[in-house]
Amino acid sequence: MDTVELKKEIEKRTQQIEQILRRYLPQASGYQKLIMEAMSYSMLSGGKRLRPMLMLETYHMFGAHHTVIEPFLAAIEMIHTYSLVHDDLPAMDDDAYRRGRRTTHVVYGEAMGILAGDALLNYAFETATQAFSMGEDPARVAKAMQILAQKAGIYGMLGGQVVDVQNEGHKQIDADTLDFIYRLKTGALIASAMMIGAVLAGANEQEVSVLEQAAVRVGVAFQIQDDILDITGTAEQLGKPIGSDEKNEKSTYVTLYGMQAAQEQVEKLTNEAVDFMESLPVKNEFLTGLLLHLAGRRS
Ligand code: IPE
Ligand code: IPE
Ligand code: MG
Ligand code: MG
Ligand code: MG
Repeated sequence: MDTVELKKEIEKRTQQIEQILRRYLPQASGYQKLIMEAMSYSMLSGGKRLRPMLMLETYHMFGAHHTVIEPFLAAIEMIHTYSLVHDDLPAMDDDAYRRGRRTTHVVYGEAMGILAGDALLNYAFETATQAFSMGEDPARVAKAMQILAQKAGIYGMLGGQVVDVQNEGHKQIDADTLDFIYRLKTGALIASAMMIGAVLAGANEQEVSVLEQAAVRVGVAFQIQDDILDITGTAEQLGKPIGSDEKNEKSTYVTLYGMQAAQEQVEKLTNEAVDFMESLPVKNEFLTGLLLHLAGRRS
């Protein structure tokens, strides 16, 4: 698949996912209507939709095609979006732009920003439970929910954000701590996306474990590339401010190892991830193309 074709396929899938997300968001109504508006504001503002895309492609890779995947596609993007809404809060990275517009807390105020994040996290699980009434084996749905819950929490994304915040302002952290932060704050949710796609499609434990190892590498590479773009990108391309890490005195892969080593590590981890994927008995050419494409992304 050449780059032009790959970009067309990414666009096509992004549109499909966009439609699904719209269907699963709550209608704005009732006295608490403002929170539904804030949820939609943060969700429907043009993210890359990477996590649902990885989930859906992994699901298809194992030959499954059923709507039971849809509530999980919506749920993972809700959890990811909540993590961004909270990550941008004044008490955290204090950023005013996200996905090309003002952050949720800037538009709706800090209290509503906090509540919109909470709402998205809770609604993600309300949404995922809908899968129990869609005719799929309940054991698969339960396993998928367990992965989602665990990878979002203190042993996953949230745990990574904790150690990230704890290490702000320190000029140097050790390599193992940095690795821990990246594997959790970004690797865990990306791993859950691919694991859930596989579990719902009926993949076996060993296959799910191979995917987890591939996806964690994709996630760490994705975070290193995010740190690189925080220095070399533009706010127009990224839809969020550059220089956020320096402003918050974050230790990143770039501050610890330098720009060139960071770029090399993105390549290395991506190639390792592709090797893991190729060891599976099933293939998805688009998915492999997407993983390779991410390593050179500019947005
Ligand atoms: C941003 O994630 C936060 C990181 C984990 C680096 P994305 O770059 O996937 O953000 P969106 O969803 O496209 O806005
Ligand atoms: C955040 O990492 C990862 C999350 C779990 C939200 P960053 O703080 O680098 O993400 P951006 O650059 O604000 O998107
Ligand atoms: Mg952050
Ligand atoms: Mg941030
Ligand atoms: Mg960043």
